[in-house]
Amino acid sequence: MEKLVITGGKMLHGTIKISGAKNAAVAIIPAVILSDGVCVLENIPDIEDVNIIDEILCKMGASVKHIDKTSLEIDPAGIKKPVADYDLVRHMRASSYLMGALLGKYLRADVALPGGCDFGVRPVDQHLKGFGILGAAHTIENDTIKVRADKLVGNHIYLDVVSVGATVNIMLAAVKAEGRTTIENAAKEPHIVDLANFLNSMGADVRGAGTDVIKINGVKKLRGTTYSIIPDQIEAGTYMAAVCSAGGDVTIQNVIPKHLESITAKLREMGVTIEEFDDYVRVVSNGKLKRCNVTTMPHPGFPTDMQPQITALLAKANGTSIVNEAVWDYRFRYVTELQRMGADIVVDGSLAIVNGKESLTGVPVKATDLRAGAAMIVAALGAKGTTQIEDIRHIQRGYEDVVGKLSSVGADIKLIRTEDELK
Ligand code: EPZ
Repeated sequence: MEKLVITGGKMLHGTIKISGAKNAAVAIIPAVILSDGVCVLENIPDIEDVNIIDEILCKMGASVKHIDKTSLEIDPAGIKKPVADYDLVRHMRASSYLMGALLGKYLRADVALPGGCDFGVRPVDQHLKGFGILGAAHTIENDTIKVRADKLVGNHIYLDVVSVGATVNIMLAAVKAEGRTTIENAAKEPHIVDLANFLNSMGADVRGAGTDVIKINGVKKLRGTTYSIIPDQIEAGTYMAAVCSAGGDVTIQNVIPKHLESITAKLREMGVTIEEFDDYVRVVSNGKLKRCNVTTMPHPGFPTDMQPQITALLAKANGTSIVNEAVWDYRFRYVTELQRMGADIVVDGSLAIVNGKESLTGVPVKATDLRAGAAMIVAALGAKGTTQIEDIRHIQRGYEDVVGKLSSVGADIKLIRTEDELK
């Protein structure tokens, strides 16, 4: 079983280059299904979630070629049956985007109920409500959602909750529908804007992405395009947190500083120096952090996908902090692992009360999900002694070459494949 072994206490110095955004890539790759031509996608991250979505497309008959490590050429022409592989779909949440893309192109889709990180209930009612308003009916049989339409007609859709997934899925279904679709209370995340830009580069007419009202005028055809995906906001935030934990002076390259504003603001409140430039930020920290309170919110609020990493930092900050998880019902499963490292954290419903300790101690821990794994890395880099992280497949789903990137700035981190290697 693979493990990450990290010995804390090494200051980090140098440069880390951020990869393309996972949550943009996993929306844009399925969106290629809507194209009537061949698409080339650049700045694609080399991560497991992308491999899975590629494999699902290949199994449906699409041609997916790696031009190089970060570029894909996808030709959806060979897709004959709009049915996604059950076992692969069960691995990841974003496979639900196949519903919108297949429905938009073929007026039908069979996609298993999606898997992904376990944060309690993860409903898709808003996705299905949106499809219904556009004219599609759905049934759920044997764990599979089947969506069917005779035609899709643009309409007015008000989302009851701000949902990234529902916003993406409705955009995908509406882009070739007849007439205008308006999504109100839409998600505003950078990857929503990136998806809209990609669709528009294929000839779609999507306006307002990045605000809470998105207007889509349906078009009949979409052409092939070449498109470069935005940098990963959460990967960048995770490495910023890593520097704050270990201490050091690191330049985080290939970022859009505007996307990092809420993270930058919190880290500054914790006493960290952050300088912003056009496409990089410099993070300087002595590893000593001040307490602060954090509430997660949809964009432009503080991202829930950075909540575990910032909690790991607050566990060794000076004073008591309150972390309020306001997006997911339950995203504190990883707290037990931080407690093993000596963290003093009490979870009460959606709140975590974090009493900062002078330092945490390295012990064996598990990555209970993707960002939980990221939090273990952040904690381990600033802890005394050696931390072994198990279940790292979760981390590999969303972080490209985490060992290479952290080693290059001086972290003592190794990927261990066997017990012998560990000895
Ligand atoms: C996306 O998940 C991200 N995943 C998640 O990142 C992220 O945590 C989340 O957005 C919030 O930012 C991808 O982009 C692939 P939502 P998604 O629909 O789309 C409720 C990571 O670590 N809701 O915005 O599944 C839901 O219960 C991952 O990279 C409904 O009630 O999230 C939640 O409370 C983990 N009905 C809230 O909305 C619905 O139909 C936000 O969920 C849909 C959602």
